[in-house]
Amino acid sequence: DAVDTAPAIVVGSGYGGAVAALRLGQAGIRTLVLEMGRLWNTPGPDGNVFCSTRTPDQRSMWFRTRTEAPLGTFLWLDVVNRDISRYPGVLDRVHFAQMSVYVGRGVGGGSLVNGSMAVTPPRAYFAEQFPTVDADEMYGTYFPRARTALGVNTVDPAWFESTDWYRFTRVSRAHAENAGLRTTFVPSVYDFGHMRREAAGTAPKSALAGEVIYGNNHGKRSLDKTYLAAALGTGKVTVHTLEKVRAISRAPDGTYVLTADRIDATGRVVETKEYGCTYLFLGGGSLGTTELLLRARETGTLPDLAPSVGTGWGPNGNVMLGRANHLWDTVGANQSTMPVMGIDDWANTANPVFAEIAPLPTGLEHWVSLYLAITKNPERAAFSYDTGSGELRLGWTAAHSAVSAAMARKLFDRINAANSTIYRYDLFGSPSKVFADDFTYHPLGGCVLGKATDDYGRVKGYSRLYVTDGSLVPGSLGVNPFVTITALAERTMARVLAEDTAP
Ligand code: FDA
Repeated sequence: DAVDTAPAIVVGSGYGGAVAALRLGQAGIRTLVLEMGRLWNTPGPDGNVFCSTRTPDQRSMWFRTRTEAPLGTFLWLDVVNRDISRYPGVLDRVHFAQMSVYVGRGVGGGSLVNGSMAVTPPRAYFAEQFPTVDADEMYGTYFPRARTALGVNTVDPAWFESTDWYRFTRVSRAHAENAGLRTTFVPSVYDFGHMRREAAGTAPKSALAGEVIYGNNHGKRSLDKTYLAAALGTGKVTVHTLEKVRAISRAPDGTYVLTADRIDATGRVVETKEYGCTYLFLGGGSLGTTELLLRARETGTLPDLAPSVGTGWGPNGNVMLGRANHLWDTVGANQSTMPVMGIDDWANTANPVFAEIAPLPTGLEHWVSLYLAITKNPERAAFSYDTGSGELRLGWTAAHSAVSAAMARKLFDRINAANSTIYRYDLFGSPSKVFADDFTYHPLGGCVLGKATDDYGRVKGYSRLYVTDGSLVPGSLGVNPFVTITALAERTMARVLAEDTAP
């Protein structure tokens, strides 16, 4: 049957996709967004859109029969995970040989499941990672533009100091200071006004009810409430959900042809569709975009893609770990799920680490201080395409991860020594696993800016084909990535709309 055509198609509706969709719509260009996940706007039987983290159901994870939470055990017990039925749930854990990657699925991508931390990287490290990008323009124009559109806000320091809900953060801050380390507040896209009303009992609880990785029912300014709502408001943007793009090729007239599988709630392919467009924007995230381009190169549908497509990948040096506090040093049963502080030792050139103080909201006192450390791991890996299975392979190894773990250990050995504390051995499934370095929340790279693309995200070898997402970032950023991904996408869209789409 007839091919559905639109002047512009955007694949994926995370940060990169959402920015592209809004700016195209505002420019008056009819745009179709194809998203493999569902739209999260309909309450389930419990009256909530998202399920709770404490009793997860089918809405929690992407086509699983059991949940796979990052922190698998507690006091050695598998009390965290639950059997669920297969469904297009909101959080996916993509398993590669020696690294697994958490990603959000749905209209809004990672914004639906992430911790809301909206961090702008230190300028010197941004400049080191993006030597060809004008840092003045980024810090003067695109970072501020991104923060405004994302709705970034900061916790009121006086409330932070007084509320039970951030006692765990204050305890970790004190322990860091005992080791002579600096801490810093971290901005957020979670509405702190709402959070304070949650604490006061005048608004429904979300961050204060343990909600985060399986979605927040209230308070969070996810992309469906910011960029994507504005994109739909232009009247030029349409979103198709539960449609996964699997192939890209080019027609003789230079337009792009996409093949997409539409799935139902059981994951069955109910229709295979063909789409055509003049301008194609890839916002499938580091994994999604790299998979599409690598497959296109390796199967010969876009043979002129650069050899560097599929290279330059890293997990942003992510390591999760827990410390065991003294019995008198309680972290509190009440913990907000939205982190607001990090230990900033990035300037320590011998061992740069930025460690966010993470919650462990079990509803009980557990004496655990939890952290997600971002380390300056210099290792990078490449993806390869398995022609037999049609799947992506990732060359990241346990030895690569060990570099991150060693850096985290150096920092936290110092903190333990200064406080006479030890690590927790019961959190990651096996007593030998103190540093969870085998998963990441921050997949970065695969189509690196200036390598697989030009300096603005235009894919090398093809015209009117763009990458706007985390695959542009060369494997490490030093901070949580979504503000940077958003700002780089703003920069790409400004350039593309000025230069490439003029009639
Ligand atoms: P993103 O992954 O957001 O979006 C890609 C979208 O494309 C997805 O919706 C996907 O379903 C879709 N897609 C992919 N392939 C497709 C295909 N072939 N066809 C159709 N659709 C396709 N960052 C941060 O800055 N602060 C934080 O606090 C956190 N915390 C955090 C917690 C957790 C649990 C996770 C998983 C992640 C974070 N992050 C984070 C990371 C952050 O969410 C992440 O860096 C961004 O979402 C990446 O944005 P992208 O635009 O690159 O892709």
